[in-house]
Amino acid sequence: MNTLKNDLLLKALRGEYVDRPPVWMMRQAGRYLPDYMKLKEKYSFFERCQKPELAAEITIQPVEQVGVDAAIIFSDILVVPQAMGMEVQMIEGKGPLLPEPIKQYSDIDKVHIPDVDETLGYVFDALALTKKTLAGRVPLIGFAGAPWTLLCYMVQGKGSKTFDEAKAFCFTQPETAHHLLQMLTDTTIAYLKGQVKAGADVVQVFDSWGGLLSPKDFEEFSLQYIRQIIEALKDDCFTIIFAKGAWFALEAMSATGADGLGIDWCIQPKLARAFSGKNITLQGNFDPARLLGPVSAIKKSVHEMIDAFGTQRYIANLGHGILPNVPVDHARAFVDAVKEYSLVAH
Ligand code: CP3
Repeated sequence: MNTLKNDLLLKALRGEYVDRPPVWMMRQAGRYLPDYMKLKEKYSFFERCQKPELAAEITIQPVEQVGVDAAIIFSDILVVPQAMGMEVQMIEGKGPLLPEPIKQYSDIDKVHIPDVDETLGYVFDALALTKKTLAGRVPLIGFAGAPWTLLCYMVQGKGSKTFDEAKAFCFTQPETAHHLLQMLTDTTIAYLKGQVKAGADVVQVFDSWGGLLSPKDFEEFSLQYIRQIIEALKDDCFTIIFAKGAWFALEAMSATGADGLGIDWCIQPKLARAFSGKNITLQGNFDPARLLGPVSAIKKSVHEMIDAFGTQRYIANLGHGILPNVPVDHARAFVDAVKEYSLVAH
């Protein structure tokens, strides 16, 4: 049976009382952990994703070594474009490269809506193995990229500060863009449902580049698709939307029926709460670069962050992914500071 020993995350998402907020860190699996670096020497990035034993091991490392209250499956948002037929390379020190990006309607032939069991079954196997190995220690989080963020990579072909080519594609060929966004949405819904079936308790949708769009364009090219995903998943599992930089859409995202909203560090907790309303759990919003500062300052800032968010309907997290150069003891200090919060007089 599937009884959780630590269900703080699920309690916070349900809006139930917690003695202290749960804590986990976006991109906590891998990157800054020495044990992960060892695996990196032996296996390529996608090998690490595709071998369930490796993915499960990497997923559990931060639970055991840093003490987080949730595990997030080790994978990547770009496995979805890959499953749809695009070539995706992960270049060491540089990031993703999609050598044949989509530029026009005829390129849409390069992608199709895949059978997720056939193409992404390895992620489901990794989730099932992780779930079994965790044996109820903490909840398991599955994830996918938001259709807009995936389109950014599929059109731009690589990372970018502005994703100007992806925007140009949407603004000059909106019908083609919407066709692709709908294909991504349909694939993502099937993919996330498969993740839940395999054991994910929570799914998070990462819209890392949502904040590059104006409020109006965010609604048109991103939120209407995220809304479909939340609608399709909300009766199956807990859902969290993280749209970096999209503070202007907190009210609209709150209305989707998601259980949680990820917040970056560019907005005050009180303002984020005011925009989101009372009936949703907020998650965030520690500046990941703050983990590079001294431990005493990390602990002080974490306590200030919890003071500002409050302990209820709140999940302590970073405002974006953990940086690869964060010392492990600083990551641990972040987690410990949250756990110590209830012991501090407030
Ligand atoms: O949260 C977790 O720890 C689970 C694993 C996870 C990875 N990628 C592993 C990874 C998750 C949730 C992601 C999501 C992801 N991937 C996002 C959305 C979140 C965000 O940070 O904005 C995006 C935009 C990507 C695309 C991507 N993958 C980029 C831009 C890069 C290279 C730069 C970087 O961030 O390191 C990756 C590679 C990647 N994905 C690594 C890891 C651990 C590093 C490569 C390596 O370790 O070999």
